[in-house]
Amino acid sequence: MTMKIRKAVFPAAGMGTRFLPATKATPKEMLCLVDKPLIQYGVEEAVAAGCTEIIIITGRGKTTMEDHFDKSSELEASLAAKNKTALLEIARSVSKLAKITYTRQPEALGLGHAVLMAKELVGNEPFCVLLPDDIVDAKTPCMKQMVEAFNEVQSSILGSEVVEGAAISAYGCLDCTPLASNPRLLEVRDMVEKPKPEEAPSQNAIIGRYILTPRIFEMIEGIKPGAGGELQLTDAIKALLHYEKVYGYSYEGKRHDAGDKLGFLKATVEFGLKHPQLGAGFHEWLKSFPL
Ligand code: UTP
Repeated sequence: MTMKIRKAVFPAAGMGTRFLPATKATPKEMLCLVDKPLIQYGVEEAVAAGCTEIIIITGRGKTTMEDHFDKSSELEASLAAKNKTALLEIARSVSKLAKITYTRQPEALGLGHAVLMAKELVGNEPFCVLLPDDIVDAKTPCMKQMVEAFNEVQSSILGSEVVEGAAISAYGCLDCTPLASNPRLLEVRDMVEKPKPEEAPSQNAIIGRYILTPRIFEMIEGIKPGAGGELQLTDAIKALLHYEKVYGYSYEGKRHDAGDKLGFLKATVEFGLKHPQLGAGFHEWLKSFPL
């Protein structure tokens, strides 16, 4: 029987320390890229990939995410009374994106632990995981590309991109071979977390997009805390490799690390320039800017 992807998990309980002080009282996932919070880009990508159920892993101080995706009756009534129909449509569409469920991670004990919090809500079916601070700009949304690849191989798939030189040391790295039938699919033999450049088995880095089979929960429960006492998702995927095939997927598009200050600034400029209403004016202003 072929398995379908219906559910998307968004780990959003981390502390966002790289973005302090902005993230002291504001969730990193709610930082605004042009005119939408980061997490909305991810939720829209999951919906475009066919997901109908969104599971957000939250923690202390993260309730603005729930308010953002909830219906805002006062705002809608006020916009309707003033006949601001375009703005009303924007406000309404956010709360109608998908069925969203929230569950809490009591302590930020790592990405693997955050994903484990979704075990009951996901149940016994494959699901996707999107890290909301990885923003992928792509003609076909990144997760949609990956779901199409999943429909082909029916196995776990890790979003991957080639990074230059020593930059690989900041990522999980794949020891892998592209499939002859589809070179974007990389058959994974092994994975190394943050390798020294000279020890990296390839330049194929893992990014914040995953499709995982439900056995991953058993694997997370079986691993020991790794670096910083955290349960690492990569350790659990390594364990999964003993039971099932795992693939990398070399997606088409451009990723921005919006959880990092410089990455966020770059994403702001690129998304600002592409914005249907703001792009032209922003472009003009940038041209006149003395660099
Ligand atoms: P990051 O490592 O980028 O997020 O994890 P962080 O820990 O919040 O950020 P820094 O490094 O301190 O700046 C990627 C995603 O996983 C979530 C984060 O919220 C982020 O969206 N995460 C991470 C959890 O939900 N729980 C955790 O224990 C760790």
